[in-house]
Amino acid sequence: MDFLSYGKQWIDNEDITEVEKVLKSPFLTQGPKVTEFEKALCNYTGANYCVVVSNGTAALHLAVAALDIEKNKKGITSPITFAASSNCMIYNNVNPLFVDINPKTYNLDYSKLEEIDDPEVKLIIPVHFAGQPCNMDQITKIANNKNWFIIEDASHAIGSKYKDGSMVGSNKYSDMTTFSFHPVKTITTGEGGAITTNDKELYKKLIILRNHGITKNKLEHNTNPETWYYEMQKLGFNYRLTDIQCALGISQLKKLNMFIKRRREIVKKYNNDFKDEKFITIPFEERGYCSAFHLYVLQFDFSKLNKNRNEMMNILKKKNIGTQVHYIPVHIHPYYQKKFGFKLGDFPCAEKYYEQALSIPLYPKMNNEEVQYVIDNILSLVSK
Ligand SMILES: Cc1ncc(COP(=O)(O)O)c(C=O)c1O
Repeated sequence: MDFLSYGKQWIDNEDITEVEKVLKSPFLTQGPKVTEFEKALCNYTGANYCVVVSNGTAALHLAVAALDIEKNKKGITSPITFAASSNCMIYNNVNPLFVDINPKTYNLDYSKLEEIDDPEVKLIIPVHFAGQPCNMDQITKIANNKNWFIIEDASHAIGSKYKDGSMVGSNKYSDMTTFSFHPVKTITTGEGGAITTNDKELYKKLIILRNHGITKNKLEHNTNPETWYYEMQKLGFNYRLTDIQCALGISQLKKLNMFIKRRREIVKKYNNDFKDEKFITIPFEERGYCSAFHLYVLQFDFSKLNKNRNEMMNILKKKNIGTQVHYIPVHIHPYYQKKFGFKLGDFPCAEKYYEQALSIPLYPKMNNEEVQYVIDNILSLVSK
């Protein structure tokens, strides 16, 4: 059995051909494939505007920057996420706060938002963890009442749908949505990311911020700029995505629905075979929502098993089964404890989830035999 990692890209000859065409074209970057990929992402998600960038962290960085939030205000996210979901606030001088997770969905618990009565809070970044969409209707209701901006971190959730059937990324419930196209994600451009929005002003800011804060349009429109003219209006970044990567993204996006279909088939099989195990909890998919299942996270009651998580991971690794922990809660990272005073015990549901979480292999290229091999090995460890 080849090594089965917890996630893996699917690259086929069509992808390679599309990338090769760009390599033989005049534009390696900033050519026609950038706008073509952005249009394709708008078509897929239903958003009006899209800006592709060099990675998902850059997408979050620019999304927060585009909001021009005053220095030292605060933003909320979930502790069960990759650090980028809150780091992006710190890059923009916004101080991160966390709200504990719902122990069933593993997404931030919207019922805890109402009680936050802090005028310094200006922003919320709900994370659609593992692909499971947050209860955006509820979050948006509360955030609108409190005048918070909303950026959805949909790094895990391209192709996921809310319970009203609309797509994650449509921005029906938010100001902006960000995506990541890292190879373990549902589609890949190697490294890559995107921001979608329905707000033209935010779109214009994002375009400028992606390219050093530079534009060809004069801030003062009293003269027509010469053809060579450009000016820097803001402090921006080089967060451009290349045409090479965009060609791969366009090709990958065509396969996304097929990828999700296969992911969900595997999840169905996993759920069916693990659901009756006493010391295992299978992922919860809320009725009506559709998760693209970027990750398959099992909860193991290690206190009842005769091995801890590390031992289990090592045994599985020897059998060529890769596993991973998503995630160490962000608030307990040393940087967050030292800089912001967070400590163990602050978010008990997130911490309990973390103690028990283990992601097992899930990617569309897995065949039925490999899926069964993972199941058999895990069951043999929990039933001994
Ligand atoms: C929830 C979440 N947000 C943001 C990111 C950052 O994306 P990238 O690795 O493309 O910078 C990731 C990547 O793992 C993620 O999982």
